[in-house]
Amino acid sequence: MEPTDPSAGLSLAEEEARHRSALARVGALLYGKGLIVGADGNLSVRMSDGTILLTPTGAMKGFLEPHHMAHVDADGVPLDDGPRASSELGIHLVAYRERPEMNAVVHAHPPHAVALSIAEIDQTLPVIPEIVVTIGGVPTTPYATPGTEELGESIREIVRCSDTLIMKNHGAVTLGTNLMDAFKKLDMIEHTARILWLAHTVRGGIDPLPAEAVEKLLATRRNLGIQTTNTLENRCGLGPPPASSG
Ligand code: 13P
Repeated sequence: MEPTDPSAGLSLAEEEARHRSALARVGALLYGKGLIVGADGNLSVRMSDGTILLTPTGAMKGFLEPHHMAHVDADGVPLDDGPRASSELGIHLVAYRERPEMNAVVHAHPPHAVALSIAEIDQTLPVIPEIVVTIGGVPTTPYATPGTEELGESIREIVRCSDTLIMKNHGAVTLGTNLMDAFKKLDMIEHTARILWLAHTVRGGIDPLPAEAVEKLLATRRNLGIQTTNTLENRCGLGPPPASSG
């Protein structure tokens, strides 16, 4: 089952061992899929005791081993003399504080999604049904300096209402109930960004799905009983709804 649900019925030590392995494995997956290069990115898991395991700063996250992970408390204070935590610990702490139901955070540099943010192409628009039904869309947060407290603060508002976001000119952050869930969302947003990129390239622009089609998809979501956070339903990162014509 791991890394889908690494904590079920395990002792804390067993849980920690599974999470450490899962962090190494998902780091390798991110690297293999071209979602990070060099020392890019950081990943974390919140354990059932509230402490956080996360990748060390400056390392190549595609080549980590379980013992390389840092371990901090809910305020980011190191719990041992092990490796130093990611310089972007702040975004992980903000995400966990704002979203108590989430237990994993992935930050990576997916090239198409970041490129679209640089080009100021809106990734919240409803275009792909699979995205409309699940996360809704991907808000972009304003540029902030990596490795500073400012970066964590720059995502606070959006992370409250979206499981995915792009930090402009920098990278993506995704939240999951577990590590595989956070990885899945990252994979989905980069795949979608690639489709948008191709569509923009061949035609120089795209049309979002019409409001009626979006409403049908959201009705399907309700019928399927999907209750995860959806930015089209909660209007996260969007302006007020358009005034009704009737
Ligand atoms: P860390 O190695 O400190 O986690 O930083 C990587 C990164 O992606 C910076 O944006």
